[in-house]
Parts: sequence; C-alpha cells; structure tokens
Amino acid sequence: MRVALTVLLLLAGCDGGTTPPPSGTLPDAGPGGVYIALTRDFEDFRDWQSFAIEDPTAPAAHPPGPSRVYINAMPPEGLRRFPVGTILVKTIENGAPQDWAIHAFVKRGGDFGEGLVGWELFELRFDEDERPIILWRGAGPPSGQGYLAPVDGGSVELVCRDCHAAGWQNDSVLNPFTRLSY
Ligand code: HEC
Repeated sequence: MRVALTVLLLLAGCDGGTTPPPSGTLPDAGPGGVYIALTRDFEDFRDWQSFAIEDPTAPAAHPPGPSRVYINAMPPEGLRRFPVGTILVKTIENGAPQDWAIHAFVKRGGDFGEGLVGWELFELRFDEDERPIILWRGAGPPSGQGYLAPVDGGSVELVCRDCHAAGWQNDSVLNPFTRLSY
C-alpha cells in the first residue's frame, strides 16, 4: 500500500511538465534554448502580476474598456532583452471574460519573428469554462486580425510590429510598467 502510494506520488510529481510553473517564475526553455508556449501556459494568467492600463490602445474588433497587462515573471535587472519564456498578456476586459480581447507576446527565443525578434505573438479567447484557447499564433496576425488606424476618411490595418517596433529600446514592449532596467 505504502509502495503504491509512493509510486502514485512520484507519478504525480513527474507529469511530464504539464503543470505550468508558479506565478513569478519563468518556465524552462526547451532544447536549444527555445520556448514553445502551449495553451496550458496561459491557463492561470489572471493570477500573475498585472498592471492596469489607462487609456489603452484597443484592437479594432473590440470596443474600448478596462485593460490590464499581465506578466509571468518580471525581468531581472541589467538585461537588454526579456528572458526566453517571458509571457506578457494584454486584455481589454469588456463584459464577460469570453468577450475580452486578449493578446500575448511570448519570448520564444532564437531568431523567430519579423521585426520583433524572438517574440511569438498570440491572440487568445476564453471558452465557456473560462479557459484560454489560442485563436492564432506566429510572427504577426492573419490578415484582418490587426488593429485599424483611421486615415483620410478610411482606415488601414496595422500589424503588431507597426506599433511595437517603436519600442525597440525596451525589446518591443510598450507599456510603462514592465520595463527593462539596465
Ligand atoms: C496601434 C498600435 C498597436 C498595435 C497595432 C498593436 N499594439 Fe500591442 N500595445 C500597444 C501599446 C501602446 C501597448 C501598451 C499598453 C497600452 O497603452 O495599450 C501595447 C501592449 C501590448 C501587450 C503587452 C506588452 C507591451 O508591449 O506592453 C501585448 C501582449 C500586445 N500589445 C500585443 C499586441 C499584438 C499581438 C498585436 C498585433 C495583433 C498588437 N499588440 C498590436 C500598441 C499597439
């Protein structure tokens, strides 16, 4: 009986990394120092450290609303780039969680990305059980999923790097709360 229990406990402890690390710590990078985020990595993002954003930049498909930026682990001092495994989530929290706009940056590492080097970009949504699901991921949004900017009575679609590349001195991260200090 005792042996069976020990085996069970061992198995529970060695679940192949299915449990995301606790808030405030970075997940381990995979082979080659590259971190490939999975849906479960976003599961508890609302428990992470977060900051309210005044007057946020909102994607076109969503009305403006209360906004927060969540981070899984703040960068240590002295770095010019966020460490591999860093996840930043930005929400526009309008109405039920299922209706929120949710975008994320994940520091994947290597030379992934176009302009926002090393960052993989995501759009997420909560399902009925308030578990996040990934709508798209990659170097940028699929056509039609960017932000609209008004020009001369019409509008143009902006992709993520159009705005975020301006933050190159802070590794493309724009909010004032999760800044690198070096
Ligand atoms: C029109 C400019 C603009 C576009 C386009 C844009 N963002 Fe942002 N984003 C911002 C600004 C500004 C912030 C800082 C918070 C705020 O003021 O809303 C931000 C913050 C974020 C954050 C939190 C980390 C940070 O940089 O502060 C994430 C994650 C994010 N955006 C993802 C995306 C994704 C993914 C896309 C593309 C689908 C995108 N953004 C397109 C302007 C933009």
